[in-house]
Amino acid sequence: MRDPDVFVLARALHVLGVVLWIGGVAFVTTVLLPALRRTKDPARRLELFESLEGRFAWQARIVTLVTGLTGFYMLHYLDAWSRYQSLAYWWIHLMTLVWFLFTMVLFVLEPLFLHRWFHERASANGERAFRFAQVMHVVLLTLSLVAVVGAVAGSHGYAFGSR
Ligand code: HEM
Repeated sequence: MRDPDVFVLARALHVLGVVLWIGGVAFVTTVLLPALRRTKDPARRLELFESLEGRFAWQARIVTLVTGLTGFYMLHYLDAWSRYQSLAYWWIHLMTLVWFLFTMVLFVLEPLFLHRWFHERASANGERAFRFAQVMHVVLLTLSLVAVVGAVAGSHGYAFGSR
């Protein structure tokens, strides 16, 4: 289906998904995790983290689906699959990589073992486990923000590498 109105709707839903998703990741990374790391009671800290991030994980799963579906639809509409073959479109690669990493974490690794693994590590050594969680979140947030800047500039005509 190649309807221009559907394309505009897809783009709007894509950006809405990105705002909710990456905004949530930014909150967890820059506010929630640093505050939890300052919490003195380790059992309370783990309990709080699991209940708060558990709620966000469900929102993140839904918006990851919406962002992925609308993203692939836009590639189909624009007939732009060949962009994957060009380095000038690194922001398309980066968006897809960010989406793939979150999809793996939220839909595969987390339900299979990540949740249990983090619970065990945080029960044994809370300081180390939460430092590790924060480093991982900083890496994912940084990649996501670079993808957002690259995607907005690139999809509004900025030709990376040709100036
Ligand atoms: C399966 C993964 C994804 C695919 C296939 C995809 C694909 C696309 C496409 C085709 C466009 C429009 C490009 C154009 O108009 O030339 C776009 C725009 C955009 N994407 Fe993605 N995307 C994906 C994931 C993401 C993720 C994870 C983020 C955020 C980190 C993101 C952020 C954006 C932004 C900010 C725009 C620009 C919207 C605008 O300014 O109009 N996308 N994406």
